[in-house]
Amino acid sequence: KTLKIAVVPGDGIGVEVMPYGVRCLQAVAQKFNLSLEFEHFNFASCDYYEKHGDMMPADWKEKLSKFDAIYFGAVGMPDQVPDNVSLWGSLLKFRREFDQYINLRPCRLMPGVKSPLAGRKPGDIDFWIVRENTEGEYSSVGGTMFEGTERETVIQETIMTRVGVDRVLRYAFDLAASRPRKKLTSATKSNGISITMPYWDSRVREMHKQFPDVAVEQYHIDILTAHFVQRPDSFDVVVGSNLFGDILSDLGPACTGTIGIAPSGNINPSGEFPSLFEPVHGSAPDIFGKGIANPVGMIWAGQMMLHHFGFTEAAAAMLSAIENVLARADLEIMTADMGGRGNTQSLGEAVEKEILAT
Ligand code: NAI
Ligand code: MG
Repeated sequence: KTLKIAVVPGDGIGVEVMPYGVRCLQAVAQKFNLSLEFEHFNFASCDYYEKHGDMMPADWKEKLSKFDAIYFGAVGMPDQVPDNVSLWGSLLKFRREFDQYINLRPCRLMPGVKSPLAGRKPGDIDFWIVRENTEGEYSSVGGTMFEGTERETVIQETIMTRVGVDRVLRYAFDLAASRPRKKLTSATKSNGISITMPYWDSRVREMHKQFPDVAVEQYHIDILTAHFVQRPDSFDVVVGSNLFGDILSDLGPACTGTIGIAPSGNINPSGEFPSLFEPVHGSAPDIFGKGIANPVGMIWAGQMMLHHFGFTEAAAAMLSAIENVLARADLEIMTADMGGRGNTQSLGEAVEKEILAT
């Protein structure tokens, strides 16, 4: 099967790290005889906005629908275009209109990376965070009443649907069931948020009946954030609503080192629409143009993409190549965010070479 990939570098360092992501994917494709097809698009960028007055062409959905995946860099150049315009005009459109209801991030301490948590070694921290990506707290239902008066009141509703909750829970249970530890942790706040969160809890209990092999634990979000820092080794798959998942999926990777290496998937599991794979980091205007951005987040996102589409062996080899290069911790090759004197090119090419060599 040919995997059709739309390459959308976007803005800033997205443009600088993307070539190494594509080169590493091509290297692994050559090695494992995979058929990967790439097509590049220059929209979903602030440069495109300045030329066309919009982040994307009107027929963007038609253009991208025929791909299996979108390989995405980063979007946003706050000096050029306000962040809400660039983000809502591109990435959030992809997530919503392609029904990418799963946001998936690994939280894995890699060799050669210093965890800000004392005493943790590679292998100690290795879990997935599954965030609901389309509903929940991030609804636009609500409004302002009595504006400008002393009675001024603002309301914003949380929306949870049975379909929406069940499908993210099913994905998380499936993922947990596929792993050796078979453990699922669910984040809510049912003592304070008294309607939607107990509903989520009840759907967890219901879904658990279909996955009797999976051990389930449920925590309130406040204590769970403490556990992330104090005993990150105890997690396997963590699932949360849109807001709680958002918070956890920044905290988790922060516990495992630099933002420059973390990847993320926005997934439409049915495959009806393309899924999107991107590094966690943004466009980093502060280092853009210097060629020093860490390309590992972009490369690892490509690895997640291969894994998602079932190229398990190639994905495993790609992850090993990333780990081998990081483990060597050659400061001439590593980028500055990892304490090195290298740049995007030296680190990107080292991973590419490692893929071809192993
Ligand atoms: P950012 O992730 O772009 O940068 C945060 C800090 O981390 C900066 O100091 C940056 O230099 C550093 N950093 C990020 N990636 C790095 C890498 N690969 N190697 C070395 N250092 C790296 O987040 P920030 O500054 O909040 O946002 C900048 C722009 O990016 C904004 O327009 C924002 O809206 C956008 N953004 C886009 C995202 C996306 O496309 N998914 C995600 C986050 C932010
Ligand atoms: Mg976030």
